[in-house]
Amino acid sequence: MSELYPAEVLINSATGAVSPATGRYAKHLSELGGIFSNADAWSRTIREENDPLIYEVLEYKQEGSDLFFGTTTMQPGKIGDEFYMTRGHFHEDRTKGEVYNTLSGQGLLLLEDRQGRSSTIEMREGSSAFIPPDWAHRSINCGPAPLVFTWFCSVAAGHDYGQILQQGMRKLVIERNGEIEVVANPKFD
Ligand SMILES: [Fe+2]
Repeated sequence: MSELYPAEVLINSATGAVSPATGRYAKHLSELGGIFSNADAWSRTIREENDPLIYEVLEYKQEGSDLFFGTTTMQPGKIGDEFYMTRGHFHEDRTKGEVYNTLSGQGLLLLEDRQGRSSTIEMREGSSAFIPPDWAHRSINCGPAPLVFTWFCSVAAGHDYGQILQQGMRKLVIERNGEIEVVANPKFD
């Protein structure tokens, strides 16, 4: 194992830039098939807007560390009446939680446990969300600007996308008459 050493990492609250960053990935709309309710609007937006970027993740991780952290920067937008969102996941290790701290923008963190209980936490500048172990979590940009948040997690947590990708979550976050609404997902009726 390589030696761990103290480090300062700079994070830009407006852009989510991480310096130095050790990893990055981006998700474009075409890579998020099946998570939006309106499949027609999904494919039309890919075509008409040239497969827009939905979110980008930057991370800082030292080889051998138990913890890592980084930012997620989500673009604003909607597919039909549903706001842009992340895939959503449980952690592979069911004993590992996570913390999200919102730096800028406006959104909702949608959570759901294995028993089907749902919860939402507002994401706004200065708010930190405690995500308990074994609660699935998905972030949703409900505002007109990018939503930028930092996350702090155990390296051992891992990602389990399967259940959420197959079934979706029990709540949808939509815009109706200019208002943000959390509604039941009709797939679960
Ligand atoms: Fe997570």
